[in-house]
Amino acid sequence: MPFITDRYHDQNRNRQPAAPAAAPVLPTPDTPDTLADRLRSRVLGQDPAIDAVVRAITLARAGATEPDRPPATVLLLGPTGVGKTELVRQVAAALRSGPDDLCRVDMNSLAQEHYAASFNGAPPGYAGSKEAFTVFDRSTVEGDPYTPGIVLFDEVEKAHPTVLRALLGVLDNGILRLANGQEKISFRNSFVFLTSNLGSKELARRRGSRWRTLLDRGHTRRTVVDKALQSFFDPEFLNRIDETVVFDELDRATIERVARLETDLLRARLRRRGVDLQVDDSAVHLLAVQGFDPVYGARGLRRTLRTHLAAPVAAEIMRVRPTGTAPLSITATAASGTIRATATDPES
Ligand SMILES: Nc1ncnc2c1ncn2[C@@H]1O[C@H](COP(=O)(O)OP(=O)(O)O)[C@@H](O)[C@H]1O
Ligand SMILES: [Mg+2]
Repeated sequence: MPFITDRYHDQNRNRQPAAPAAAPVLPTPDTPDTLADRLRSRVLGQDPAIDAVVRAITLARAGATEPDRPPATVLLLGPTGVGKTELVRQVAAALRSGPDDLCRVDMNSLAQEHYAASFNGAPPGYAGSKEAFTVFDRSTVEGDPYTPGIVLFDEVEKAHPTVLRALLGVLDNGILRLANGQEKISFRNSFVFLTSNLGSKELARRRGSRWRTLLDRGHTRRTVVDKALQSFFDPEFLNRIDETVVFDELDRATIERVARLETDLLRARLRRRGVDLQVDDSAVHLLAVQGFDPVYGARGLRRTLRTHLAAPVAAEIMRVRPTGTAPLSITATAASGTIRATATDPES
């Protein structure tokens, strides 16, 4: 305890030897159950995926994992726009300071050998080697003794094979040696998430065919995905993954709930500005229909919400209340394919 002064020692010289210091009280706001609830409130219709992620986090936090590896390595599979990245962002919100407080590595950008070098920094003699420039942000990867780091390798199957080999090393011993030979980054306190679309095309193809009823049984879906994984990744790589979760395509009802969730978030933002926004079910339905795409899932929903809901609401706010902060009520309803925002009497 280097910060204890001599004076402290003088005062305490005659005391009994102190009991061993209690373990520091970690900021653990969530039990596994409340963590699962919190994640379920933001990522809808993906409960099995959330359960698997919570399981991996719980094992890691309890120290029930191997010490010389990342404490959790979770592979998230499924089609585009169904909540894979969003789930990792919400884990960051729960465990770190917010949804963007994580190190995201876009493996797509490491598809070519030329760029692959930035995974572990430029080798000696190359531009950038002195700075040990890598795609990793040390503080979000390593965390601190009270906070895990979070790393997201997005679209992992897109990376160049040399990057996948380096990644295997990281999953194996939790250490990435930078190419300048002097530094390393530790992943031994990092929750590692990988996302991939592998197997999704095959699942979608079969869904449209006579396989459908078979696919509805979870284990058959699993077999399709496992096949795709095994034909792409080496067994060593798959062995390093603690949990593999398959996200479902969003069904109609879930899409409506996601649209409602997004309008609720807008509502909460506006409430802080003195605006009470009511979004009619008709408007939510229109957003769900226009914001959802069979190929891109809910990816376009936020933009749709911005142009079709937030913009008319903002225009109405500026019309009725160009300056000032007087309380205001606005109702948004859909009629003939567009959303109309109308100010109503705040007293009513
Ligand atoms: N299951 C879901 N629950 C809530 N929002 C979702 C869900 N799926 C997608 N979204 C919305 O769509 C956006 C894109 O989803 P994202 O997680 O980035 O997709 P991907 O699965 O391709 O990583 C998210 O930011 C979120 O607004
Ligand atoms: Mg994603």
